[in-house]
Amino acid sequence: MNIDIGKDNIKIDLSNIPNHVAIIMDGNGRWANSRNLPRHLGHQEGMKRVVEIVESANKIGIKVLTLFAFSTENWKRSKIEIDTLMNLLVVFIRKEIRRLSENNIKICILGNINSLPVNVIKEVNIALEKTKNNDGMILNIALNYGSRIEIVEAVKKIIYDYDKGLIDLSQLNEENFKEYLYTKNQPDPDLIIRTSGEKRLSNFLTYQAAYSEFYFSDKYWPDFDSESFLDAIIDFQNRDRRFGGV
Ligand code: IPE
Ligand code: IPE
Ligand code: MG
Repeated sequence: MNIDIGKDNIKIDLSNIPNHVAIIMDGNGRWANSRNLPRHLGHQEGMKRVVEIVESANKIGIKVLTLFAFSTENWKRSKIEIDTLMNLLVVFIRKEIRRLSENNIKICILGNINSLPVNVIKEVNIALEKTKNNDGMILNIALNYGSRIEIVEAVKKIIYDYDKGLIDLSQLNEENFKEYLYTKNQPDPDLIIRTSGEKRLSNFLTYQAAYSEFYFSDKYWPDFDSESFLDAIIDFQNRDRRFGGV
């Protein structure tokens, strides 16, 4: 099947689209560095790829797209860089919310947003509210997200429910444990993409990634356009997933 992505027609099997694709958008700083530009221009350029890839993911029928926007470890960066990232998120929501909503996309947040700057919390809540009834693609924004804290929080919630007599420990299993994670009710990622040549998870979706396929691209995130994204999908379509079977 040919899909017009605006540049090229790329062959992609529409009957084998991953349900959930998660992306570690990495390399904005190095992209800028390699051009002798300040890091914030890398983040700014990277934001354009976000818009582009959300659109192509939606076009090919992906059900859940997760974008790693800010990790619990990213607080180690300079205040100025953190402010830039937060402001870009606010701008993204303001500029794109209408189009996202018209495309029936539902925004979800993975992570703890309570410790974010108030204007960011406000904007994020507007986005959640505006798209809450949409039933098309879910766009997860992993924001102040860390997989380990997600698991620790899950354990705390389980203990809390146990104390209240809401859960029977003998009934707790690998599947219903997931209901305590931020990705509650969502399928596990079929494909995890990381750009910029780094080959690690960096505290991203470790529970959910148990059987994910991985795709690593050497391109920096601002160079990872929708064609690169569709190449990753095609690569996924040629994988043999066995899940421990034969
Ligand atoms: C990804 O690019 C964006 C975030 C982590 C928020 P980086 O800012 O990590 O870019 P590099 O890895 O320094 O090149
Ligand atoms: C992972 O990238 C976090 C995001 C893409 C938001 P980092 O650049 O923070 O990861 P490390 O530090 O290289 O592991
Ligand atoms: Mg990085």
